[in-house]
Amino acid sequence: MGASDQQTTRQAIRASILHCTDDPLGDENSDAAEYIEDGLLVIENGYITNVGAAQGLMQNLPQDSALIDYRGKLVVPGFIDTHTHFVQTDIIASSGRRLLDWLNEYTYPAERKFSDPEHSRVVAAFFINELLRNGTTTALVMGTVHETSADAIFNAAERKGMRIAAGQVMMDRNCPEDLRDTPETACENSEALIDRWHKKGRLQYAVSPRFAPTSTPEQLEVAGELIRTHEDLILQTHLAENEDEVAWVREVYPGHRSYLDVYDKFGLLRERSVLAHGIWLDDTDVARLSATGAAIAHCPTCNLFMGSGLLDVGKMRSAGVLVALGTDIGGGTSFCMLDVMHEAYKAAQLLGQYLSPMRIFYMATLAGARAMGLDDRIGNFLPGKEADFLVLDPQATTLLKRRMAHANSLAEILSAFMILGDDRVVAKTYVMGQLVHDRMDTDDSALSGIPG
Ligand code: GUN
Ligand code: ZN
Repeated sequence: MGASDQQTTRQAIRASILHCTDDPLGDENSDAAEYIEDGLLVIENGYITNVGAAQGLMQNLPQDSALIDYRGKLVVPGFIDTHTHFVQTDIIASSGRRLLDWLNEYTYPAERKFSDPEHSRVVAAFFINELLRNGTTTALVMGTVHETSADAIFNAAERKGMRIAAGQVMMDRNCPEDLRDTPETACENSEALIDRWHKKGRLQYAVSPRFAPTSTPEQLEVAGELIRTHEDLILQTHLAENEDEVAWVREVYPGHRSYLDVYDKFGLLRERSVLAHGIWLDDTDVARLSATGAAIAHCPTCNLFMGSGLLDVGKMRSAGVLVALGTDIGGGTSFCMLDVMHEAYKAAQLLGQYLSPMRIFYMATLAGARAMGLDDRIGNFLPGKEADFLVLDPQATTLLKRRMAHANSLAEILSAFMILGDDRVVAKTYVMGQLVHDRMDTDDSALSGIPG
């Protein structure tokens, strides 16, 4: 195609619009959120060029703009899931165990199957569809110890134009023999995957040691070396989720002040380090997270399902630690970030803390972008950002419709979406200005990959 054939695609989305430009804190930082009741989101070639009141912006729209009218709906940035395992899709809702037994009983057997590229491909395709159907447009994803698992999830995301970061899990001890790598093979495989996928379009590699107990010091050394030598890599791992796990780390890594200190000593704490859970930390740990810029992926659906504990989000906030949200499929119980937001609210209540709906909305959008070092590209609707957005339907269910009719404030609207909403609320999902999920369509493709 010659340069002269390249057309500019212009879209203007008219709807109520909400996005965060910063952390609303409680609700104290009221400048942090922009709500435009009759708004216009202007997009050119998949990037946002303007957002504001429809009345003002409509007059200056170029003639060739496609005007899409979603009045009566709420347009928000796509949700960002900062911790999930696509390879655990088939064991979601496996009850009856706490973390360490759950890993042995359900997780490792499920992960073993990803030595098969065809199984990896089928599950990855289902998983990506399910994310988009639930309104997640960016995710940080763990694979298994098999290189093919990472290839599969990158391929599936690339086909949809979706932004993900993912990685092959590193684990070289304290797990089944046939799921172990070595420091050397983990390094070679990660390097090969970085070569193939990192910064290819919207894809990014994430160095992924599973957690401290399943990696030798030599392997954590490799993880540190990888993030130091390649630009823009994300690091993802688990941290202090369960008390038995914390005790185990004390045995496996004697001489360290704490679980977090293990990661610290191997140079794994910095911006773009995303640590899932982080429930059982002391004040020194929390101060260290803050100082290094490492983020916590708060996974309340998993924390409650597994009985792991309650993250003290208030303490994290006071210390200036970045907290985003994650579904943690399959320990977590829903693909839908609205459900995660709901459980984050309830988990805070159990600690006597109030998380405002706006703050939780920030955690599901801009905070996730910040945790992944992507806030210059996604997370809100500032001009120049990639046009990943959702159309949320306040009338998706009869109860929601009824409750919305009595909503007197933005906080009430957001609260109703979060507490009463689920995938039915996500009417449409767009990535880079392209419609990738429409609830009005019967989406048979989402059903492909279900074992017959
Ligand atoms: N800790 C180590 N591996 C895992 C995992 O797969 N899921 C959860 N929830 N915690 C972990
Ligand atoms: Zn996890």
